[in-house]
Amino acid sequence: MFKKVERVVCVGAGYVGGPTCAMIAHKCPGITVTVVDMNAAKIDEWNSDKLPIFEHGLDEIVFAARGKNLFFSSDIPKAIREADLIFISVNTPTKTYGRGKGMAPDLKYVESVARTIAQYAGGPKIVVEKSTVPVKAAESIGCILRDAQKNCPELKFQVLSNPEFLAEGTAMRDLANPDRVLIGGESSPEGALAVEALVTVYENWVPRERIITTNTWSSELSKLVANAFLAQRISSINAISAVCEATGADVSEVAHAVGCDTRIGNKFLKASVGFGGSCFQKDVLSLVYLCESLNLQKVADYWHGVIEINDWQRRRFADKIIAELFNTVTDKKIAVFGFAFKKDTGDTRESSAIHVSKHLMEEHARLAIYDPKVPKSQVLYELGLQTSPADVEKLVTVYNDPYEAAKDAHAIVVLTEWDEFTTFDFSRIHASMRHPAAIFDGRLILDQKALREIGFRTFAIGSAP
Ligand code: NAD
Ligand code: UGA
Repeated sequence: MFKKVERVVCVGAGYVGGPTCAMIAHKCPGITVTVVDMNAAKIDEWNSDKLPIFEHGLDEIVFAARGKNLFFSSDIPKAIREADLIFISVNTPTKTYGRGKGMAPDLKYVESVARTIAQYAGGPKIVVEKSTVPVKAAESIGCILRDAQKNCPELKFQVLSNPEFLAEGTAMRDLANPDRVLIGGESSPEGALAVEALVTVYENWVPRERIITTNTWSSELSKLVANAFLAQRISSINAISAVCEATGADVSEVAHAVGCDTRIGNKFLKASVGFGGSCFQKDVLSLVYLCESLNLQKVADYWHGVIEINDWQRRRFADKIIAELFNTVTDKKIAVFGFAFKKDTGDTRESSAIHVSKHLMEEHARLAIYDPKVPKSQVLYELGLQTSPADVEKLVTVYNDPYEAAKDAHAIVVLTEWDEFTTFDFSRIHASMRHPAAIFDGRLILDQKALREIGFRTFAIGSAP
């Protein structure tokens, strides 16, 4: 029924769809991969010399495969008609309206792709959820597709779950060498055939023992749980960072001592100003909403604590800045180093920098923002969503040069862990600032002792000043 996969289509040319399909095209010369999107401008960018997203190693792979076995197109019906296997890789943001507002993921884009597939398929297709979705989303997709089959017997569909675990900033490395690939499907003979067809695609570069196959619901749930566990580790160490600040313990030393236990492990224990990014908060809230819908309020409350600690940590850091700047930041210039949600990406979605900036702007601080990868327009857009355009105009300046950003500032606030920040000439920066000059390290990347020797007042997450 399902022939060997020779043509793959991915609907959604975003952070996941673009890099994932570039890797498939790179590793599988025998497969033609087409990435489609309803955003024609984004497709134009994928077809240009300047790709819409920045990831180390992405340009090379795209430029080598594009036009050979990798294509970017706005012709969604044609791509669907010709595909053997279709990834749905569209956004699933937290709902901003109606039932589940602020908690449940908005599945309207996923549903709309399912309907488009039903309309244009014309023959057998394996449909793969790549987007992060709640448990049982495959059921809704399957229902829409099965309905189309009624009027068109040559249509045949199998819906698989194949969540993505890449992290931004390391996407190409994660895709080339994943800890695991997870594929969920129906246990019927047709389901098993579809799962095997997708396994065969990944086997081009992923060892078989790292490809896990499960039932559909385990696969969907595992993605939410993986992100919830990762976010929980950050909230756990961030909660402890507050205890460290109050007691003289040092959070980096505690994380090291705790993480040396191989049962705990040393990854994802870096205290910070809070996790950001488009997924951790969204996916933990999705899990919380799922638990509430299942009447598992205790479980929902447990996971909601992860988000509460994250919000609290951001607020706590902003409050610390205000308190240490003599309880007023009104009209003070504060240099913000880093606006992306983590280093090595230009992505600012849910960045903690947005939240800390907002708290400081509420106190009428003048922010001088520098980030090596985030364009000015994006900083202004993000902050414009938090406060009035007049406030952004009055209080925010975006700099291309960190030394200019810091000039005449009362304080520097480090909000992203960009490596280049550790290479700055802080003696020169200190000399150009208002005194006493302070540095607040929300990422634990700077040498506090060296900064104090220069003359800075220093404050870092998780250690007593
Ligand atoms: P994104 O916003 O970068 O890209 C999604 C794309 O889908 C957009 O370009 C949008 O125009 C397109 N789209 C939406 N509806 C469409 C439709 N009906 N037809 C055609 N195109 C449509 O999102 P992303 O970051 O790539 O995330 C996609 C999914 O993958 C989400 O569910 C997310 O949770 C998950 N995920 C993301 C990451 C990550 O690092 N960003 C990692 C793992 C999983
Ligand atoms: C995360 C997961 O790591 C991926 O496995 C997952 O596929 C992805 O979400 C997703 O589903 O979207 P990502 O958000 O891109 O990836 O980046 P992470 O490296 O996980 O960082 C998330 C946030 O946590 C960043 O703000 C980072 O600075 C922060 N973080 C991370 C810490 O504060 N401390 C740490 O120890 C690690």
